[in-house]
Amino acid sequence: MGATLTATSHLNRTKVETGIRGVLWFLYPLCVFLIYKQALHAISFTAANEGGLLVVLAMAAAIGLPLTGLAIVQRSLPAAFAGYLTIVIPPLITATGGLLRVGEHGGYWTALAVSVPTVVFGGGAALSLSPGKALVKAHRATALALGIFVLAHLTNHLFALHSLAAHKAVQDALRVVYRNPVIEPLLIAALIAQALSGVALVWRNRYRQGFLNHVQAASGLFLTVFLCSHVTAALVNGRALSHTETDFLFASGGPAGLLHSRGAVTLIPYYFLASVAFFTHVGGAMRRNLLRKRSPLANRVNAGVFALGVVVSVLILAALCGVGGLSRGV
Ligand code: HEM
Repeated sequence: MGATLTATSHLNRTKVETGIRGVLWFLYPLCVFLIYKQALHAISFTAANEGGLLVVLAMAAAIGLPLTGLAIVQRSLPAAFAGYLTIVIPPLITATGGLLRVGEHGGYWTALAVSVPTVVFGGGAALSLSPGKALVKAHRATALALGIFVLAHLTNHLFALHSLAAHKAVQDALRVVYRNPVIEPLLIAALIAQALSGVALVWRNRYRQGFLNHVQAASGLFLTVFLCSHVTAALVNGRALSHTETDFLFASGGPAGLLHSRGAVTLIPYYFLASVAFFTHVGGAMRRNLLRKRSPLANRVNAGVFALGVVVSVLILAALCGVGGLSRGV
């Protein structure tokens, strides 16, 4: 009897300790958030005063800090979610700011500001209970159409390295397709389906193992939070509320670019990591597909797509910071 009681109280104590330790993991994203804010200040400061290598170092610090979340994702379930939260800090900050701005307009706009995160994250968690392979099928079915759009969209931004006029010419051509009154709602519907099924998959497979599986979940979550912010910024804050032309100057915070426009440095890790997350997520999906077919190329294809993503993201970031068309104003 005495032995049973001792064993039960030991078990309860272990559970409480595990619970407390689980909560403690969430101090990690909090600390990173505080240091991350300083890294953003360092970018503005060095850009205004020193320039050169120090700006690049400050940018690398701000981009690298959220990625340190990957160091804890394999420790336990709470650690995995604390790690994911650390990684999504850049889009979380921008999304919160954007949704608050939408909410300021009251009425339907407040409802929209509340419903976007509720539908995506609440709906995704609820959908995780859906049976069988439906979620995976929905995620794959929408991925191809979205992938084509995002590749065209990112390629469009590379044209800003040549000139703003070239960026505009390509954007105008692409808009004929993605702003088409039939295609645009389909694109948005595909985005919602992709985000909902993605959140559901992260939650359903929450006991996942293996570093690359965590990377797949984290990059998907990053894109989900990014898209909540980015699509609201372009379609709602930009087009519907401010009637602004959502062109390259809109993305770069103005003609001075991300480094020198007021409040725009937050967009540096945000855009860079979004584009890297896209290639990481696609590369990871291709790897799984190839592994299923027992192809020996799976890991090499994954690494190649990731490397391509880093190069493309560096080039887009350079264009957004003023390299090419922006600095020449043409
Ligand atoms: C990395 C740098 C990026 C920049 C500078 C950027 C910039 C922009 C701009 C300026 C628009 C407005 C387009 C227009 O009015 O024609 C836009 C729209 C959009 N972007 Fe991005 N974007 C970036 C990355 C991404 C990524 C990675 C995704 C998806 C994963 C994405 C998805 C979208 C979507 C869905 C729209 C709305 C399209 C529409 O219906 O008009 N963007 N973006």
